[in-house]
Amino acid sequence: MKGVKIFAPATVANLACGFDVIGLALDFPEDEIFLYKSNTPGIHIHKIHGTSLPTDPKKNVAFVALQFLLKKYQQIENFHKEKKIGFEIELIKNIHPGSGIGSSAASAAGVVFGANILLGNPFNKNQLIRFAMEGERIASGSAHADNVAPAIMGGVTLVRSYNPLDITKIHAPSELWVSIIHPQIEIKTSDAREILKQKVLMTDAIHQWGNVGALIAGLYQENYGLISRSLEDRIVEPIRATLIPAFYELKIKCKEIGALGGGISGSGPSVFMLSKGNDIAKKVTEVMNRVYSTLKVDYKTYTSPINQNGVKWFKII
Ligand code: HSE
Repeated sequence: MKGVKIFAPATVANLACGFDVIGLALDFPEDEIFLYKSNTPGIHIHKIHGTSLPTDPKKNVAFVALQFLLKKYQQIENFHKEKKIGFEIELIKNIHPGSGIGSSAASAAGVVFGANILLGNPFNKNQLIRFAMEGERIASGSAHADNVAPAIMGGVTLVRSYNPLDITKIHAPSELWVSIIHPQIEIKTSDAREILKQKVLMTDAIHQWGNVGALIAGLYQENYGLISRSLEDRIVEPIRATLIPAFYELKIKCKEIGALGGGISGSGPSVFMLSKGNDIAKKVTEVMNRVYSTLKVDYKTYTSPINQNGVKWFKII
């Protein structure tokens, strides 16, 4: 095998009440990554299509995540056995950086997933998530896993604990669809994290963990009423909503047409809504388009089912 072609999915982190712990993977959009193993030591990013990303390797999430993986591989696999290992990367970015739907996570998750295959699968998914989180640290200043975990594992994922890393895949009903609007404004994750309060009120915390528990139960029971009632964030959303034009109007109008609920995707600016079935999801996306067509902000919308399997790969022979 000469290399692998990877499809790395966009993801929605936080899922309203689950700040930094719940995320889901989308079928669409997805990044395409060509990854080749070579005998020339080092990691080389040949080309990045679709956007301009840092060419300085230390600031490039794909480079950093892969470097962590390679370092660990060389430690465990007796470096002298195969000391000349390098990787060549070509990235096609279909997920816009800074969109809030896991662009950096897709790059990081995609390359570590592909490199693991090319090295003969020495690492498990938990370890791959760890490497990809180092890419997230570079991109946003925080090594959160709620984008990289669903990108690698697929479906809906829950981070029970960061230390030790304990991530579990949650049942995601196949009828659950996602509508996304990406207003083309810039919100840096690091800025969107900095504005958050470091302490929360006990009354808000009680609501929040009630909602997290109920959302997970709702997903397992395929109880759409319970999912809908649980999509509420009392802690992060009220602060970040101020950064997103027409956020509350979007939410109200999408729910009026039948959305179960939603919130800010990751740290924004994208907004997501969940619906039962493709028909309602499409109507919800139309409502998103209508709300934003009256504003002076460029935007893009997507409608996607949940990606149940995460990263996909194909051999390049
Ligand atoms: N959980 C992270 C945040 C996701 O909201 O800051 C960033 O994509």
